[in-house]
Amino acid sequence: MSLAIASAFIVTGAAAIYWYVNRHKPLKHILSELRYALDMQGAGAGGLIDDWVNVWRNKIVLPDANGKIAVVTGGARGIGTEVVRGLLKSNMIVIAGVRKPEAMMKQAENMENGKNIVAFPLDLQSLKSVKEFAQKVLEKYPTIHLLVNNAGIMYGDYHLTEDGFESQLAVNHLGHFYLTHLLLPALKKGGTTGESARVVNVTSCAHYPGKIYFDDINMKEHYDTTAAYAQAKLAQLMSARYINLMLEEEGSPVKGYAVHPGIVDTDLFEKTMFKKAFPWLMKVFFKTPAKGAVSILHACFEKDLEKRGGLYISNCVEGISNSFSKKLEHQERLFELSCQLVGVDKASFGKA
Ligand SMILES: NC(=O)c1ccc[n+]([C@@H]2O[C@H](COP(=O)([O-])OP(=O)(O)OC[C@H]3O[C@@H](n4cnc5c(N)ncnc54)[C@H](OP(=O)(O)O)[C@@H]3O)[C@@H](O)[C@H]2O)c1
Repeated sequence: MSLAIASAFIVTGAAAIYWYVNRHKPLKHILSELRYALDMQGAGAGGLIDDWVNVWRNKIVLPDANGKIAVVTGGARGIGTEVVRGLLKSNMIVIAGVRKPEAMMKQAENMENGKNIVAFPLDLQSLKSVKEFAQKVLEKYPTIHLLVNNAGIMYGDYHLTEDGFESQLAVNHLGHFYLTHLLLPALKKGGTTGESARVVNVTSCAHYPGKIYFDDINMKEHYDTTAAYAQAKLAQLMSARYINLMLEEEGSPVKGYAVHPGIVDTDLFEKTMFKKAFPWLMKVFFKTPAKGAVSILHACFEKDLEKRGGLYISNCVEGISNSFSKKLEHQERLFELSCQLVGVDKASFGKA
């Protein structure tokens, strides 16, 4: 009881300080920011508990995918490096889309089958760069079996990309959405009935408090960096579901999945107070990047998932996703808006 009173006291005190510091803002924005701040702590705590409870499920036996082609975004650091390591170990040829190809090649020097990697420049903040990357990939590899949309950023000041997109939305969602569109013809060639090609979107449990700001997706009216991350990760989850459905309806041998890798000790947290104040806590309580990669590799390879396209995966089982993400009308609306933003006719999405 006294613990509950003390907690209520701390939360109320923190909210009062927050209001005082931000009192120049309209009340509705302060309340929304507070709601996101609290809900994100809840989503993070839920994610940590999920990781501890389900740690034993994080196992993967890598198959021999000899000669198959995988495209991965952001493999030079963090979880992506471990995903690349796993794909190479499975004898795949890996094409990494990274901002610094030389850093990726350096990482690969110490990996098993490291010679099977090619790194091309990719900046997801730029649709032009995404297009150039896709062209380079397709010139050399007209058939692809796997696309892992892993790269991501979290938090930071408001910034619009050269295409006019809020940066977290651009890197996490729109860049990958456009890349998926451009690579789908090659993925369709790579998949077969019973062994579909796969698109794996690396999303997050942070999608949970999120919603899509359909009328102001670039958050020009009011920017809350936490809401922007939640929106971007939610958009990746919803896109995986909708694209999967679309491909199923057209009978294409490509499946879409969304994965939360766990709460992982990486540079992603560099803009958080948590990392600044308690970096040692991350080492103790968070997953290592290698453990974070397991659920992603599970989505890439697990045979039983063939019949479960559109699944949201956490710790190698179905994860808990928010109700907003499950509504088909929201998914469809986001798909149409995303097509419009990246300049693709929705009827031509994923078609050569
Ligand atoms: N860590 C977690 O607890 C956690 C939890 C849930 C979901 N995730 C998701 O997992 C994914 C990987 O994150 P991480 O934890 O490994 O983070 P990280 O260590 O910060 O790595 C992020 C990667 O994204 C790349 N990237 C960032 N901006 C880019 C851009 N504009 N163009 C191309 N690549 C870009 C980075 O490349 P550079 O080296 O060039 O910067 C880096 O390779 C992200 O999608 C993240 O949202 C992570």
